[in-house]
Amino acid sequence: MIQPTLEFKGERVLLLDQTLLPLQEITLEIVSAAQMWEAIKSLRVRGAPAIGVAAAFGLWLGVKDVADNATRGEFLAQLEATHAYLATSRPTAVNLFWALERVNAALRASSLQTVPELKNRTLEEALAIMAAERATSEAIGAFGLPLLHSATRVLTHCNAGSLATTGIGTALAPIYAALAVGQRIHVYADETRPLLQGARLTAWELQKAGITVTVITDNMAGSVLRDQRIDAVIVGCDRVAANGDFANKIGTYGLAILAAAHDIPFYVAAPFSTIDFATPDGDGIEIEQRDEKEVTHVGAIRTTPEGVSVHNPAFDVTPAKYVTAFITDRGVIRAPFLEGLKAAQP
Ligand code: MRU
Repeated sequence: MIQPTLEFKGERVLLLDQTLLPLQEITLEIVSAAQMWEAIKSLRVRGAPAIGVAAAFGLWLGVKDVADNATRGEFLAQLEATHAYLATSRPTAVNLFWALERVNAALRASSLQTVPELKNRTLEEALAIMAAERATSEAIGAFGLPLLHSATRVLTHCNAGSLATTGIGTALAPIYAALAVGQRIHVYADETRPLLQGARLTAWELQKAGITVTVITDNMAGSVLRDQRIDAVIVGCDRVAANGDFANKIGTYGLAILAAAHDIPFYVAAPFSTIDFATPDGDGIEIEQRDEKEVTHVGAIRTTPEGVSVHNPAFDVTPAKYVTAFITDRGVIRAPFLEGLKAAQP
C-alpha cells in the first residue's frame, strides 16, 4: 500500500507533496488555510476528490484558532471567509466547491453554540468526507471490474489513482480491483504534458502496487490504440455536467476521439461528488488556465524561444457522445446520461 495522499494523524494534516514525486517522497504538515490554498494551487495535492478532501481540512485549519469564547456568529463568519478564500484556489474540479459547501452547510444546519463544539463538528465533517471518498473509490472499483473482465491492456491519461483520492482512485480503481482478484491488467499511461501526472504519478503508484505499466508520450496514443490491442480507455474527471459532457486533464478530448475512431470503449470514472447537476453542459465548465512556464520550460530548463505566446489550459471538455459509460460509486451509467445520472443521484 502506498503512502496516502492526505492523512489526519494526531491532530496534524499531512500531505504527500506530489510535485516532488517520483524523485522524492516528502510529507508536508499543513498548518493553515493559506498553506492549504497554496498546496492545492501548486498541485502538491491534486486530483478532483483529493482536492475536495484537502479543502475540507483547509476549512478546519481556517477556523481552528477562533477564540473559544467567540460567538457562533463570529465562528460562522470566519468559516464563510475561509470557504470563499479556498474556493479561489482552482476553478475546474467541482469536488472543491462540493466539499466546502458540504462542511459549511453541516455547520450552518447544526444548532451548536460553543466554539469548541463548532470546531469539532468542522473536523468531523472533513473526516467524514475523507472516509466517504475512500468508500466511493472502492465502489467504483467494484462496479468497474466487470467491464474489464476479459481486459489485459488498458490506457489511461493523467492520474486518477490513489494519489488523486483518499482511496484506490477512480480510473485506476477497477484496475486495483482486478489485481485483488488475481487479474493482471497492463496499463499504458499517457505521460500527460505539461505537468507529467501520468509519467510521474500514475507510473509511480502502479509500479509500487506491482501493476505493470508502459509510459507513452501523449502523441503516441493514436498509434498505441491502433497497434497494441488496447481493450479499454479509462480516465477520471474533474467535473461532469448534467448532460454527461465532462472536463478532465488536457488531452482527454483527443483521446476520446481516438478511442471512438478505433472502436475501443471509453470509460469515465467519477464519484457523484464530481457530478455537477447545476451545469447543464460542458460549455458551462470553467477551464483553469495555468502559468505559461509549465509549457515553456521542462523543469528549470527553457525549451521554447523567449517571447513566444503560450496557451496552457489545464483541462478540456469531452462531449458526452464519446463516453461509453460513466463508472460511478452508484453503478455504471450509460446513455442517455441526463436521465441516467439523475436517476442514480443520491
Ligand atoms: O491538474 P490535476 O492533476 O489536478 O488534474 C487531475 C485530473 O485531471 C484527474 O484526471 C481528475 O481530477 C480525476 S482524479 C480522480
